[in-house]
Amino acid sequence: MKMQLTPEQQAILDGSRGEVVAKVMKSLVMFGETFGAEKLVPITGDFGHMVISFGIGVMKPVYDLMDQLIEAGALPQQQFTVDPKPLDPNIPTNLLQDVVFKVIMYSQQKRYDEQLKKLGLMKSDAYTCTCYMDEVGNKPKMGDVLSWSESSAVVYANSVLGARCNRNSGIFDLFGAIVGYVPYFGLLTDEGRKATWIVDVQTTKKPEAQILGSAIGMKVMEEVPYVRGLDKFLGTELNNDVCDYLKDFGAATASNGAVGLYHIDKLTPEAVEQGESLIAENAQIYVIDDAELERIVAGYPCVWKDPDARPKLCFMGCPHMSLNQLKDWTHRIQSGLQKAGNQKVVIPTVFTTSPAVKAEFEKTTEAIVLKNSGVILSDICPLMYMNNPLCGKMPVITSSNKLRTYTTAKFYSDDEILAQITKGGNC
Ligand code: F3S
Repeated sequence: MKMQLTPEQQAILDGSRGEVVAKVMKSLVMFGETFGAEKLVPITGDFGHMVISFGIGVMKPVYDLMDQLIEAGALPQQQFTVDPKPLDPNIPTNLLQDVVFKVIMYSQQKRYDEQLKKLGLMKSDAYTCTCYMDEVGNKPKMGDVLSWSESSAVVYANSVLGARCNRNSGIFDLFGAIVGYVPYFGLLTDEGRKATWIVDVQTTKKPEAQILGSAIGMKVMEEVPYVRGLDKFLGTELNNDVCDYLKDFGAATASNGAVGLYHIDKLTPEAVEQGESLIAENAQIYVIDDAELERIVAGYPCVWKDPDARPKLCFMGCPHMSLNQLKDWTHRIQSGLQKAGNQKVVIPTVFTTSPAVKAEFEKTTEAIVLKNSGVILSDICPLMYMNNPLCGKMPVITSSNKLRTYTTAKFYSDDEILAQITKGGNC
């Protein structure tokens, strides 16, 4: 399908903004035509968001491309936030890990951080996947058209905020931001936002967000689910607790499947406005009860070399934790430690959050309590941290279904994680 360009878009393609921007436009047009897009539409959000946050040695050609873009003045039309960094000096490493991480794996990090500044990074600490949180300040409005690609942020922006964004890839998020347009297809269209699955939640208690999201993601894959029955547990108001729940739920749908948008009956903005008219004709039905959730968890493989190994590390916060979650978990850990008669967590534990939320949390009374419990607060991406041969062999536990999916980390529910880190015990 050939795309129809406006005179301004055609001029960019013909070189009105220089040869490099013309090439960027050409790539974007080819990308759109592959997916059947008939036109390009303007990006309307206030800020962009980039998925590539890491300067990894094997991707040197990507950083060479960034240099070319910067030299040619082919810069994004808006400032942007970016995913979290892969390293944090606060997380203990041994000499071998230091050498592998800094010298071999992330040898391009400094170079890339400088490039991000020149490309228009919103602020020096704008490294997080939860850019939409108030403390960070990159929160799209309903109907905004975006050029993002981080899957957990895309699904949140589409579903909870009502923005419009496809599940793009890295580099294409930047290309869209440079020309200021994105191809119009998929989740940008009214038709593409219709639900082709009805999910009926019939559990006896509030399902764990990470497990429900995993079940739905694995069932519907890249399609759009309309979830009924959750309002019974979550209510009908998008308050802090509900937004945290939907953040973790959405990340699990997006990583265990490839969901880019979900609707929650009576809760998410499009479902509130349009109700079941969002459901496409002949939508399939998936019923989720207690037994189904148990079946899903029982199916997670344990890929540790020794399945009975004592955990060496616990990661929480993939996607990054909110201020609300940090406070809540601090109270849970405090009371768990008191009950167990322990002063500090018995498994080294890292909570990850954005630099902006971390700064706010540090002003609260909970900050010292969390620190005294031995939990390390970091702003890294645990997945990036774990994706190397050294960490791959380490028995890590998590209640993030995204981290479980992409690494060797073993999944536990929130209650099980709390028991493990405050009381201990083998897996
Ligand atoms: Fe965020 Fe990294 Fe997890 S980008 S969602 S913390 S994989």
